[in-house]
Amino acid sequence: MANWLEIDKNAKTWVKEASQMIKQSFSKTLTIETKSNANDLVTNIDKRTEQFFINKINDHYPNHRIVGEEGFGDSLSNLDGIVWIIDPIDGTMNFIHQQRNFAISIGIYEDGVGQIGLIYDVVHDELYHSIKGNGVFLNDLSLPRLEDVNVSEAIIGMNATWVTENKRINPSLLAPLVKNARGIRSYGSAAIEMAYIASGRLDAYISLRLAPWDIAAGIILIEELGGIATTLKGQPLDLLAENSLFIARPGLHEEIIQKYLNNGDW
Ligand code: IPD
Ligand code: CA
Ligand code: CA
Ligand code: CA
Repeated sequence: MANWLEIDKNAKTWVKEASQMIKQSFSKTLTIETKSNANDLVTNIDKRTEQFFINKINDHYPNHRIVGEEGFGDSLSNLDGIVWIIDPIDGTMNFIHQQRNFAISIGIYEDGVGQIGLIYDVVHDELYHSIKGNGVFLNDLSLPRLEDVNVSEAIIGMNATWVTENKRINPSLLAPLVKNARGIRSYGSAAIEMAYIASGRLDAYISLRLAPWDIAAGIILIEELGGIATTLKGQPLDLLAENSLFIARPGLHEEIIQKYLNNGDW
């Protein structure tokens, strides 16, 4: 059986080491490249950080498999065994433009079941962490289970592009939710937005398209606290594919699916 306590301890040590490396890069010139489009950015530091984790994991756990955004890991067709799903920097645009509001995100799964979730907001020194069955912590603070709130009292994380004209949806579909919610916020890092649900700073988060490494750690944290993570249709998420994501406090999830998301062709 896997020693989750030891794996968790190592993963946290490596996250802190990687974060030192990332902070040191603030005073250096970044190499910035684009990927799928002009706003899809990657830097030498994203790549170096992913390689750092892969080297550590391969050295300590040669039987574990790794999926990383920058492609230095394995390409998987199933989630058998122990799989680390890593986003070395979630919020690269923030990293480049703001030097804050980005996170390291690591979800560790066994046969598709989330066992360890780590999201580290590097600049604010906020480590969200969980081992399945042992609750969720923000640094040393134990976080309470998530209770229901109504839409009228909810702050929802959402990128403004989802209410503009775009290829994926009719912009009018999300407008009633934007109107009825107490507030809408956009932080530019899916991992941080999910971590903020864990700590109660947000109540829900919606995205039309995310990759497995954006969500792998966040869903472990939220489900551990009793929250619900599905696609916008309310279907289970597939960690081998891109998904839409709707993640929220338990009763709020049901209310929004039924009253606002049911009519969408997501
Ligand atoms: C991005 C961030 C962003 C989300 C994008 C992601 P990256 O991840 O999480 O908030 O809106 O869809 O791709 O590229 O900075 O790791
Ligand atoms: Ca990226
Ligand atoms: Ca990401
Ligand atoms: Ca990334």
